Amino acid sequence: MAPSSSPLLTSESGEKYANVKWEELGFSLTPTDYMYVSKCRQGESFSDGKIVPYGDISITPCSPILNYGQGLFEGLKAYRTEDDRIRVFRPEQNALRMQTGAERLCMTPPSTEKFVEAVKQTVLANKKWVPPAGKGTLYIRPLLIGSGAILGVAPAPEYTFLIYVSPVGDYHKVSSGLNLKVDHKYHRAHYGGTGGVKSCTNYAPVVKSLVEAKSSGFSDVLFLDAATGRNIEEVSACNIFIVRGNIVSTPPTSGTILPGITRKSISELARDIGYQVQERDVSIDELLEAEEAFCTGTAVVVKAVESVTFHEKKVKYRTGEGALSTKLHSMLTSIQMGLVEDTKGWMV
Ligand code: COI
Repeated sequence: MAPSSSPLLTSESGEKYANVKWEELGFSLTPTDYMYVSKCRQGESFSDGKIVPYGDISITPCSPILNYGQGLFEGLKAYRTEDDRIRVFRPEQNALRMQTGAERLCMTPPSTEKFVEAVKQTVLANKKWVPPAGKGTLYIRPLLIGSGAILGVAPAPEYTFLIYVSPVGDYHKVSSGLNLKVDHKYHRAHYGGTGGVKSCTNYAPVVKSLVEAKSSGFSDVLFLDAATGRNIEEVSACNIFIVRGNIVSTPPTSGTILPGITRKSISELARDIGYQVQERDVSIDELLEAEEAFCTGTAVVVKAVESVTFHEKKVKYRTGEGALSTKLHSMLTSIQMGLVEDTKGWMV
């Protein structure tokens, strides 16, 4: 990684790795040493950020993030290769997505350069928390929040751009594939809303469905579109694809679907190996008739769907050896882990 231009604290204290039971990692927070914080006045540029000890932040009770949910987050990962390089996957894509979200929520975003530099600084400062090759990844969570005091509904006078990290393992702890429940009561997004950007407000509303589904033994929830209730949209924290023959289909990013960076990368990899990838409305009936379904996301990576339950109907899908999702998972993680040449220039 390029040397940082601003003062950098590092977690070098002799030991190469933090004291973590890497084999036991799931997708939960392991607090690390440092985080990155930068602030700016509305419409101005972010100050040079600082790497500071990881910990609580102080925020006015009157901030728009607390009162009105004016906030965006991102998710990306750092990977340690067998030959001990630490690399990040397509961070500029997260920067661009944060800028699109900021435009939607009337926020001032960091530039792409500032975002990528901040990611590098945060990872370097916490490098002993990047798991050994093959034992997990360092999840990077950039936040952009309206942090200045304002009582009425209006853009915040000040924004905070913050990045914290945590070593993580699998998002879903399931051996073969996900057992999804289709939610026919609640929706995740609607046209004209914020489903197409990574607004913090998109996630709290899915928790009720998720908790209910998990308490009935399902791994996750799949939401349908709010307009017709006939098309599939997203799972609580990831995109979804279906496979039928040589055609791979996923719902289009026309406002209600998050433009996932893994979604986009997987579409490209599927095309590279001869599949036709269609971004179009996918009905629940088509999902129920598909040969295969899988989910993609930074946290989730590529995860096969084992079954989908819609009302009383349960359908099972191809998983494991021979499934396209297994092949695509291997192609993507081989690039990320440096097992194959990064011909696409995705790794930083
Ligand atoms: C990610 O994959 O980075 C996400 O944003 C999922 C998160 C909600 C857990």
